[in-house]
Amino acid sequence: LDQPSILREHVFGFLPDVVINAAAYTAVDRAESDADNARIANAEAPDEVARACALVGARMIHYSTDYVFNGRGSRPYRETDPPDPLGVYGHTKLLGERAVLAADPRHVVLRVSWVYATRGRNFLLTMRRLASEGRSLRVVGDQTGAPTWARTIAAATAQGALRLPREEPGGLYHLPADGETTWHGFAQAIFAESPEYRDEPPHVERIETADFPTAAQRPMYSRLDGAAFRERFGFALPDWRLQLRMALEP
Ligand SMILES: NC(=O)c1ccc[n+]([C@@H]2O[C@H](COP(=O)([O-])OP(=O)(O)OC[C@H]3O[C@@H](n4cnc5c(N)ncnc54)[C@H](OP(=O)(O)O)[C@@H]3O)[C@@H](O)[C@H]2O)c1
Repeated sequence: LDQPSILREHVFGFLPDVVINAAAYTAVDRAESDADNARIANAEAPDEVARACALVGARMIHYSTDYVFNGRGSRPYRETDPPDPLGVYGHTKLLGERAVLAADPRHVVLRVSWVYATRGRNFLLTMRRLASEGRSLRVVGDQTGAPTWARTIAAATAQGALRLPREEPGGLYHLPADGETTWHGFAQAIFAESPEYRDEPPHVERIETADFPTAAQRPMYSRLDGAAFRERFGFALPDWRLQLRMALEP
């Protein structure tokens, strides 16, 4: 991603039917002091891939984020709501999604939120690691969103966007888990749903955003409205708690 022009050569070399782009500069706090690299990865690289895809007739499926919104809303954000990112990450992701959608009407942008998996680096694994090290757990309880298991996003991508007939237009869609919680509620649920912690869950202290200063400001209210995706593709992602249960199933 650091040399976006090389990506064009790759697309011309592979001549793909579809390119799914999940790569991004996702270090939300670091981005505040590393804006050039965030912009290259989140805006310039997707732009390059999207235009190359348009030239070879490939559809691009690209992921974006709830962090394009300022989080001052009080009902789930729709695709038509005006973005207003609070930080460099959200701003560069917004530039990226706009570039992708402008390059070809067949391209698809899926905005997702609070993504976790049982691999990689994410909130779920961090909570479990801290608990296993016997560290105290202090988690913000005044930011609201919908934790989403990466596997359900992959499945929805495969059954939805990937199955679009070749000539059908794409567009911008929100792809949230159903329901809502806070990071604190999510942490408690992680331990309640983890077989090894269920009987004796560690204490999770609820703190306020103001108690946990970070370089980047985060949206307080992050829920996305999935109605447009459901109408177009005929299904929606299950409730966040059910997803978590499935992810932690031994
Ligand atoms: N996680 C969330 O809560 C969340 C929420 C909303 C939206 N999203 C979006 O969902 C997508 C996937 O996010 P994620 O959580 O899976 O992110 P992630 O775990 O940080 O993975 C990002 C991937 O991008 C690659 N990458 C980053 N910079 C690169 C560069 N300069 N050159 C080549 N590869 C590079 C990374 O490679 P290395 O591993 O080699 O560094 C990594 O494989 C992103 O578009 C993100 O904006 C995520």
